[in-house]
Amino acid sequence: MSPDPTILETPLLPGLVLQNPVMSASGTYGAGLEGNQFGEVRQLGALVTKTVTPRPRAGNPPPRIHETSGGMLNSIGLENPGVERFLAEDLRRALELGPPIILNVAGESFDEFASVVERVQGCGAAALEVNLSCPNVQGGALPFATDAEACESLVTRLSAISDLPLFVKLTPNVSRITEIAQAAEAGGAQGLTLINTLLGMAVDWRRRVSRIGLGPAGYSGPSIKPVALRCVYQVRQVTRLPILGVGGASSAEDVLEFLVAGANAVQVGTASFRDPLAALHILRDLEILLTEDGSTVRQVTGTLRLPSELHTR
Ligand code: SIN
Repeated sequence: MSPDPTILETPLLPGLVLQNPVMSASGTYGAGLEGNQFGEVRQLGALVTKTVTPRPRAGNPPPRIHETSGGMLNSIGLENPGVERFLAEDLRRALELGPPIILNVAGESFDEFASVVERVQGCGAAALEVNLSCPNVQGGALPFATDAEACESLVTRLSAISDLPLFVKLTPNVSRITEIAQAAEAGGAQGLTLINTLLGMAVDWRRRVSRIGLGPAGYSGPSIKPVALRCVYQVRQVTRLPILGVGGASSAEDVLEFLVAGANAVQVGTASFRDPLAALHILRDLEILLTEDGSTVRQVTGTLRLPSELHTR
C-alpha cells in the first residue's frame, strides 16, 4: 500500500518536498541499491548516500565494527571509491530508484571539501549533506564540527560554490551544539543533520585489546536516541532551518519523537543493519500512528512543550 501523501508529506525547503519524512542515514544503506533487493526503496522520503570524498579512501584497519548491548561501534574511516567512480556508477543507478538523493560529501581540508562540492554540482542529487563530523578520521572529529569559526568559514566557502542546498551534519561531541549549528547557519547552510555518532570504545579485557582497530570509534544505535533528541530539541530553539534528525531511530514512535522535538525528517541508520527493511516498516507504522492520532507530519513537527510550561498556563 502506498503511503497517503496528505498525511506524510514533508516540506523541507522550497523545491524540496518529500513524500514522507523517513530516509536512510549516510553510511548505513549504501546508495540504496542493495536495499532495493529486499523492498521498495522508492517509497522512502529520500536516500542519503555514504560519504564520498574527492579521492578514493581505503578506510581504517580492522576490526571496524563491534556490536554492543545498546548499539554498535564503527570505525570505517570514510572508505569510498572516490567521487568520480561514485558519480559514474552508484549515483547513476541510485537516481533511478526514485527518491530524492541527498549526497553526503566530505574532505580532509577546506580545499578537499570545496573540490568535492564543486564536482557534484548538477549531478542530479536534490541536496548535499556535508559531513563535518566523522569521528574516525585523523584521530577524531575534524575541527569543522567542533570549532564554530572553522565551521562558519568552511560552510561560507561551500555555499558560495553550491547551487545545491547544503545540509550540514554535526557532531554531538561538543559542549554546545547550538553554537556550531548557528555557525553553520551563518555560513549559509540551508539545513542541518543532527547527529553523527558519539565517540565510544569497547574493550576485550581478556586479550587486553580494544575491539576496534583504532580504539575510539563512532557509537550509534538505540542507546544514543536520547542524546540525538536533546540535540534536535536544543538546536530547534535557535534556528528555523530544516533539521534531519538521526540517532537510534528504530520505530515509528521514535520518528514521531524526533518530529515533535523539532526535526523535519528522520534518518534510519543502525536499525537497517538488523533489518534492511527497517525504514520501510517504520514508514508503514508511521502512517498508521498518524492516522490513529488524526494528525499529519506537518502538524506534529516541532510541537514539543515542556511539562514545566504546561503547569504555568
Ligand atoms: C566512517 O566512515 O568512519 C563513519 C562515517 C561518519 O561517522 O561520518
